Amino acid sequence: MDAVLELRHICAGYGDQPVLEDVSLVIPRHRVVGLVGESGSGKSTAARVAAGLLTPTAGEVLLDGQPMAGRRSKADCRKVQMVFQNPEGSLNPKHRVGRALEDAMVFHGTATRGEAREKARRLMARMELPADAPDRLPRSFSGGQKQRIALARALAVEPELLIADEATSALDVSVQLKMLELIRALKSERNLTILFISHDLGVIRYVCDDVVVMRAGRVLEAQPADAFFRRPQTEYGRELLDSVPRIDF
Ligand SMILES: Nc1ncnc2c1ncn2[C@@H]1O[C@H](COP(=O)(O)OP(=O)(O)OP(=O)(O)O)[C@@H](O)[C@H]1O
Ligand SMILES: [Mg+2]
Repeated sequence: MDAVLELRHICAGYGDQPVLEDVSLVIPRHRVVGLVGESGSGKSTAARVAAGLLTPTAGEVLLDGQPMAGRRSKADCRKVQMVFQNPEGSLNPKHRVGRALEDAMVFHGTATRGEAREKARRLMARMELPADAPDRLPRSFSGGQKQRIALARALAVEPELLIADEATSALDVSVQLKMLELIRALKSERNLTILFISHDLGVIRYVCDDVVVMRAGRVLEAQPADAFFRRPQTEYGRELLDSVPRIDF
């Protein structure tokens, strides 16, 4: 199988507090892998290891089949882009938002300075942002718009893997649905590979091809989404599924 990213027997934590214990997971190319589990189960920690932001104490991370060791090269950094719950962190409040996309493209070589402006404009239009959006400051946007700007910024550098960590969790239901629809459309348009982290199984069901369940720093089960939603393999998977209020988008 062609995997964009693979975690093999990863242990990781903060200081002397272990969090991940023997976590293995595969993100096949062009699939959306949903990572679910209760708060504190280690989802964001696994994402940080995948993105190269946290060094594991044991195990191996493979990106495009290559083992990652030590600091990642600039080229490898481009390959994995993240969108977080709070988009503020990825936008400079003093710069017009188009510039965030343009600088990222020029830095990673996905556009020249001359091409970047037009490319940013087109990408932001695709995110259904207003035509004047590239020239405005971050504070002039709603939460949902900022999240779509963060998504545009991440996609501007043409990543191999997009990690969305609770990227829609802070949004109102209707705004969240718009973002999820966009992610689904972009997935097929751009052949994206996504690690989609959410504690909301309704959201996972809507966007994901595969489901990975974590609890207390371990992976309990991993299977295609339709199989998981028909019949979870573990007792905990069943509990998770039973505890969701059924919101059908
Ligand atoms: N920067 C940090 N320093 C110390 N401990 C941390 C740090 N970040 C997370 N932890 C701890 O690691 C454990 C796993 O946290 P993590 O953020 O990975 O969980 P999560 O599954 O993403 O939870 P949530 O659904 O609330 O986002 C928790 O016990 C948490 O308190
Ligand atoms: Mg988290």
